[in-house]
Amino acid sequence: MEDMAREQTFVMVKPDGVQRGLVGEIVARFERKGLKLVAAKLVQVSKELAEAHYAEHRERPFFGELVQFITSSPVFAMILEGENAIAVVRAMMGKTNPAEAAPGTIRGDLGLTIGMNVVHGSDSPESAKREIELWFPEGALTYDRTVDAWLA
Ligand code: PPS
Repeated sequence: MEDMAREQTFVMVKPDGVQRGLVGEIVARFERKGLKLVAAKLVQVSKELAEAHYAEHRERPFFGELVQFITSSPVFAMILEGENAIAVVRAMMGKTNPAEAAPGTIRGDLGLTIGMNVVHGSDSPESAKREIELWFPEGALTYDRTVDAWLA
């Protein structure tokens, strides 16, 4: 089946989510939605990687705090693939500020403060490409998910 809108997106469970043991729950939500996991790893983020990842926010007042937080303990980084994966992940994450995120979203259900909002997902195709290359220079796996072969 031709699949024009098939996308890959970069997603990470932030240190608060890893420390709270929420990796399984978060990955499960994405998998249940139908997104396919094509790469994943725990990463102790270096200052250089953190600053490169958040480079567009360099001038914002919380930049130092953001880098300090993301380097404080491991994150769980992944690439998810599927139709409209970038927008679907963003919708499932909910608003940046968990206090404003709708119930049913990851941040709405699992987060409380903007500084520790549990999860990150690429916000555009350009960001997804940049972030995937930055975090996964080794690339993702290509494999058939036989469980839904009957849908093809
Ligand atoms: S967004 O989703 O990019 O539009 O959100 P934005 O408001 O631009 O925030 C960019 C990232 O900075 C984080 N953030 C903060 N961290 C700490 N303290 C404060 N006050 C704060 N405000 C925003 C926010 O969680 C975004 O991180 P990511 O990892 O992209 O979600």
